[in-house]
Amino acid sequence: MENMLHLTPVPAHTTLPNCCALEPEMLPPAITTTPVITLPVIDMSRSRGEVCQAMLDAGKEFGFFQVVNHGVSEQVLRDMEVVCEEFLQLPAEDKAHLYSDDNKKLNRLFSGSTFKTGSFWMDCLRLACTFPGLADSVHEWPEKPKRFREVFQKFVMQARGMGLEILQLLCEGLGLPTGYFEGEQTDGNVFVSTIWYPPCPNANTTLGLPPHCDRNLITMVLSGNVPGLEVFYNGDWFKVEPVRNAFVINFGIQLEVVTNGILKSAEHRVLTNAALPRTSVVTSLMANDDYIIGPAEELLSEDNPARYRNTMFGDFMRLYNKALEESGGDVKQAIKYFKII
Ligand code: OGA
Ligand code: NI
Repeated sequence: MENMLHLTPVPAHTTLPNCCALEPEMLPPAITTTPVITLPVIDMSRSRGEVCQAMLDAGKEFGFFQVVNHGVSEQVLRDMEVVCEEFLQLPAEDKAHLYSDDNKKLNRLFSGSTFKTGSFWMDCLRLACTFPGLADSVHEWPEKPKRFREVFQKFVMQARGMGLEILQLLCEGLGLPTGYFEGEQTDGNVFVSTIWYPPCPNANTTLGLPPHCDRNLITMVLSGNVPGLEVFYNGDWFKVEPVRNAFVINFGIQLEVVTNGILKSAEHRVLTNAALPRTSVVTSLMANDDYIIGPAEELLSEDNPARYRNTMFGDFMRLYNKALEESGGDVKQAIKYFKII
């Protein structure tokens, strides 16, 4: 628990950064000239055809886009900001029982400063949500602050609904049968990770999160107006410009595999910020562990054979991490592990 960055008084951090120092090649240049791309911001209240096409185009080009008018209510977004901050401010003794270094534990509070693959400047509360039967998960969640459980329940139900709607729109765009992504592909846990990136006095020597691709189908990131997220595109890192009340949507490797590479999973990372704290809430839809993921038959033909092998989702999650460790964090090498051509 003493590893949690947010519990260390800020001035003390100036003498702590060795724990988070990274190899120079993993770091952004000291003087950052990173260009800003405006990821497509898709207004989901527009016509279905337009939204569908815009998501398909953005998914093929970037593997990333933002959405507004997404169906998660503004009240829930504001309530999330409040309860996430209130949780962070709780005294350490109210959070200690949630802390764990065991990454097999479904619900836990942990710090990026303890990762096996390197130390990163973030603290995280990860919660598992079961569907259907969300009520079964809730008793594992923090009891404080008072409205935490109620607000998180509302949030995860609405955010999951948005994710399923985006997947349905992609189905239509790709010509897959209606409801293709429903059922076993999205019936596993939904993980909601609240990530706090405290101000970092040595922002040039560490990262909030290392370059990675998400492994699951789709991830929805809600963050405030402090920038930090970067996407790798055409050989360069690009900052993602925060848009009020938007979610950043990113496709995971599972979606790349299922679409046989039509939709891309893009590498991304989070920079630290010397002055401002940043909070993001990351919602990830998971498949059942024993569901076999592989390219959708409907998308294959003689001219377009399967490019990825079939793997059980549970194994896929483990194998990707193993391949990533073995390649020294090289995401492209790790993805190759699942490619057959
Ligand atoms: C992640 C992630 C981005 C962010 O948790 O996988 O990419 O902005 N988070 O916190
Ligand atoms: Ni990610």
